[in-house]
Amino acid sequence: MTRSSRSVASPHVVSIGDFRAIAQRRVPKSVFDYLDGGAEGEVTLRENCRVYEDVTFRPRHAVAFANCDLCTRVLGIDLALPFLLAPVGYSRLMHPVGEVGAARAAGNAGTAYILSTISGHRLEDVKAASTGPVFYQLYLMGGRGAAEAAIERARAAGFSALVVTIDTPVSGIRERDFRNGMKELVSGGPFERLPFLPQILSRPGWLASFLRDGGTPALSNVVVPGKGPMPLIDVAAALAESAVTWSDLGWIRELWRGPIVVKGVLTGDDARRAVDEGAAAISVSNHGGRQLDCVPASLRALPEVVKAVHGQTEILMDGGIRRGTDIVKALCLGARAVLCGRAYAYGLAAAGETGVNRAIEILRTDLDRTLRLLGCVSVSELDRSYVNVPQSWDANCWRPEQLIK
Ligand SMILES: Cc1cc2nc3c(=O)[nH]c(=O)nc-3n(C[C@H](O)[C@H](O)[C@H](O)COP(=O)(O)O)c2cc1C
Repeated sequence: MTRSSRSVASPHVVSIGDFRAIAQRRVPKSVFDYLDGGAEGEVTLRENCRVYEDVTFRPRHAVAFANCDLCTRVLGIDLALPFLLAPVGYSRLMHPVGEVGAARAAGNAGTAYILSTISGHRLEDVKAASTGPVFYQLYLMGGRGAAEAAIERARAAGFSALVVTIDTPVSGIRERDFRNGMKELVSGGPFERLPFLPQILSRPGWLASFLRDGGTPALSNVVVPGKGPMPLIDVAAALAESAVTWSDLGWIRELWRGPIVVKGVLTGDDARRAVDEGAAAISVSNHGGRQLDCVPASLRALPEVVKAVHGQTEILMDGGIRRGTDIVKALCLGARAVLCGRAYAYGLAAAGETGVNRAIEILRTDLDRTLRLLGCVSVSELDRSYVNVPQSWDANCWRPEQLIK
């Protein structure tokens, strides 16, 4: 057992917040901030987490049951937990086991893993590592030729669904990454890198494993015709040239016969459009506050989307989930399941696959305890009657001035 895996097994790691603190100590500031940070003033990033405080529970006491049922069904697939692991680009930077370890941990827990296009590991290796369902998150980086090749490989490897992210016509500005010299560290020459090296050298454990892993391998799932795998440094420019539009969705549907999830919906209008375009599910998401800042928290946008969709498609959501109570609140407001991003990625950065296993276990036990305290025997029975929401939410339309309190 390594030192880091011993530390996460300690009784002091009781919450995802504990993992965040361990991750901050284990990886360089540039890597931690890449994971932890958001766009511009980080208003949406903060609000994503804070907003859960606006929703309170209405428990039913004096009821007892032997077991709580945490199972759900997403896209016709049975899951043991009402949460999936969200796509987190270049997880291999946090720990060499990266996407492979996260997928394996998800499978062992009976849930699904969503692999980002921006992956340091081959999609075939990620799929092979997991005993559970794996979805492929698609950007059109590198053009339609690169996307078509990735879709064909995902199909051949046995991926269960495609997740098309629509909120990234350009990469959001994450100011922490600029200040930490992420660009210089990934691609700069020795002199450009020099000012940013002390933070890297202060994390020798991480540095040794990073160097053993070969640094930053190219994106093996973005193979640009005539050019080969895309280098990591080209990602921002490639994203800016490859916005996903509704017409691309039609083209993608021709290539991919399985279910498609549209990720990055925040309004009823976009939700209805996604339904019209054949989305089997929608993920209400603001990309963890990493794209357009000052959009509403995902939980706040959820009721409008639920209302607009009228049960015509499954609704997932992500953003700010750090506790089982957060998941329960999202389910009460109409999500079929949620995606967890940073919650497992902090575990990965803190202690590799052991950390992801433990993060999932923390959320699972949180969920079980919350349901018992709520007096609800199954996640499938959660609905609005278990929560109080602010009156303004019931009006089902948010106004920008309601965002920052
Ligand atoms: C470091 C990092 C990288 C991400 N990369 C991607 C990505 O490649 N594709 C994508 O659709 N979403 C990406 N996301 C967004 C997540 O899928 C998810 O929407 C978000 O993390 C949810 O918020 P949470 O981290 O507060 O749970 C990323 C998030 C983080 C933190």
